[in-house]
Amino acid sequence: MITPQTIEQIKNRIDIIDVVGEYVKLKKRGANYLGLCPFHNEKTPSFTVSPAKELYKCFGCGKSGNTITFLMEHDKMSYVEALKFLAARYNIEVEETEASPEQKQLQQASDSLYIINNFAQKFFDEKLFQSEEGQNIALTYLKERGFREDIIKKFQIGFNPSQRDELAKALLQNQFNKELLPKTGLVVVRNETELIDNYRGRIIFPIHNNTGKIIGFGARVIGKADKAPKYINTPENEIYVKSKVLYGSYFARLAIDKANECLLVEGYTDVVSLHQAGIENVVASGGTSLTTDQLRIVKKYSNNLTIIYDGDSAGIKAALRGLDMALEEGLNVKLVLIPDNEDPDSYVNKVGAANFQNFVEKNKKDFILFQLEVMLKDAGNDVTKKSEVVNHVADTLSKISKAEDFTKLQEYIKQCSSVLKIDEGGLTNLVNKLKRDKIAKDEKRLPFEEANFILQQTQQPEDVLDDNFLLLNQDEAHEKNVLRVLLEYGLRNWDEQKTMAQYIFEELEQFSFDNIHLGNLFNDYRTRYEQGLQPDAKSFLYHPDDTVRNLVMSITVFPHELSQKWDERLEGMNIVNRDVSHQDVEISISFFQLKKIKKMFEENQREIEHADFEKQKRLIDIHNNLKEIEKKITKKIGTVIMK
Ligand code: UTP
Ligand code: MN
Repeated sequence: MITPQTIEQIKNRIDIIDVVGEYVKLKKRGANYLGLCPFHNEKTPSFTVSPAKELYKCFGCGKSGNTITFLMEHDKMSYVEALKFLAARYNIEVEETEASPEQKQLQQASDSLYIINNFAQKFFDEKLFQSEEGQNIALTYLKERGFREDIIKKFQIGFNPSQRDELAKALLQNQFNKELLPKTGLVVVRNETELIDNYRGRIIFPIHNNTGKIIGFGARVIGKADKAPKYINTPENEIYVKSKVLYGSYFARLAIDKANECLLVEGYTDVVSLHQAGIENVVASGGTSLTTDQLRIVKKYSNNLTIIYDGDSAGIKAALRGLDMALEEGLNVKLVLIPDNEDPDSYVNKVGAANFQNFVEKNKKDFILFQLEVMLKDAGNDVTKKSEVVNHVADTLSKISKAEDFTKLQEYIKQCSSVLKIDEGGLTNLVNKLKRDKIAKDEKRLPFEEANFILQQTQQPEDVLDDNFLLLNQDEAHEKNVLRVLLEYGLRNWDEQKTMAQYIFEELEQFSFDNIHLGNLFNDYRTRYEQGLQPDAKSFLYHPDDTVRNLVMSITVFPHELSQKWDERLEGMNIVNRDVSHQDVEISISFFQLKKIKKMFEENQREIEHADFEKQKRLIDIHNNLKEIEKKITKKIGTVIMK
């Protein structure tokens, strides 16, 4: 892990205008900078960058973030890569924390595996292009299949000679750890101590992770596979986890982003051939059913997934199994079947790039409707089977659960009920029922989803200023607001004696947060503050935990978002250089307290209903007390707003 000190150093040096300015032409507009958004197509600029807050926000597409997330989104770097990239740019030495012995061992093993794979790839490369067997047999075979040399080199395809232990010998000569070698799958142990090559006489397809490092290999027999398996793949180890790999993702990521579509095929050769034809937004699953982790890789780059399989492949069934997960991930899934026993590799070679692309465009079928048609055909006139189909479709549709997918779901319900010749309202009811059942089952939400949930539920900070108490009906908005003012003004002075942060701590002493993430953030801030660290929003924007980063991002307000509201309110009052921080803190704190008091009030009320006479008397005292406090706070809010 990169140390907090290094992160702090990077944070202090970052100039968002400098970094983002390399990708977007920015013009100064007041305190902010404005340019054309790099994340969506627009003609009038709505991409705004605040150098003071170290944030950008597009008021067109809504994308927002800081320098790190910009690099992550735009250049598809990981969090650590982005930090290292910036460190290098500002000449900051990166300090990493001492890992635990187990972590270290794991790290060392991973490092060694990468190094061995790298060595092997160079070996395979040399054997393919330099050795006689490689040239005569392997390279000839590849060229006969139509692969160009530049594309073979791009994908670093190689050859493992057919002799028993050429690679094994080379590895041992180079002093690689003999114990570790079998883990790579490159060699296997024979007669207990002897190492021999595992991929003898095979073409080698290196498999890269998203940053281009080689994590494993697929090894294909040359020609027809009669006895031996067609492909041998790397066994799972510290760096190769099959469920997290999509072959080709490293080469495809920029093209997927650009096309806003990811093509999914089955095999290594499909990916390579499509690239050769200039279709680069393509990855391969290896013919098994898709995993959630693989879908997440896709989703990082695009929401549109198009599966291109051969018409009668067993792979379709496997892919169909991944469908429900894809829907849950909010992906739009389309399906294209390649006809006549061809696969994408052979088909693109047969018809050419343009025809291939045309075919895909014309034959894209919606996955849900495709599945429905297949099932209906199977069911025929059987009434029981048909009602099974209805249930199945409803179940599939109930997986479309993201709020933003609502219109999509309605459209599906319309189309499916029309295909099924059933009542639209009935299908809607069934889908809703299944959704409710599902929610009841998933009480446990993942932290990331939790953070997203808060993001969706919490309204924008403008509402702080609404006179009607609208805010009070929105759960957690008041909690979010307190954190906003804390992060925003915490280090300023409240009065001569204390800072805003100290004032906020005092005012909230009696209260706790309902939302666990917001509560943790509050405590984290407090701890840092008490250690004399001077925390602000930026300190948390570079937090290693992405839940925290997302949360802080959602809390932080862009400069003019708040001031616009204030401007409207204070219009005509001609106050220049006003500092709204005091009012802002007071209102936020008061709303928070009021909300908590209301809750206590309600709880008390419920207790009164069930209490005996003696207890009731005490509870009524509490009731009156709370009423008093409520009155006071309400009055305070009134005066603050009027101020
Ligand atoms: P295919 O049999 O369709 O192979 O398997 P392919 O990719 O089209 O290869 P060529 O064109 O015949 O040379 C699809 C994918 O399934 C996995 C591989 O990832 C392969 O690319 N597979 C297949 C294996 O892992 N092992 C096998 O024995 C066969
Ligand atoms: Mn093939």
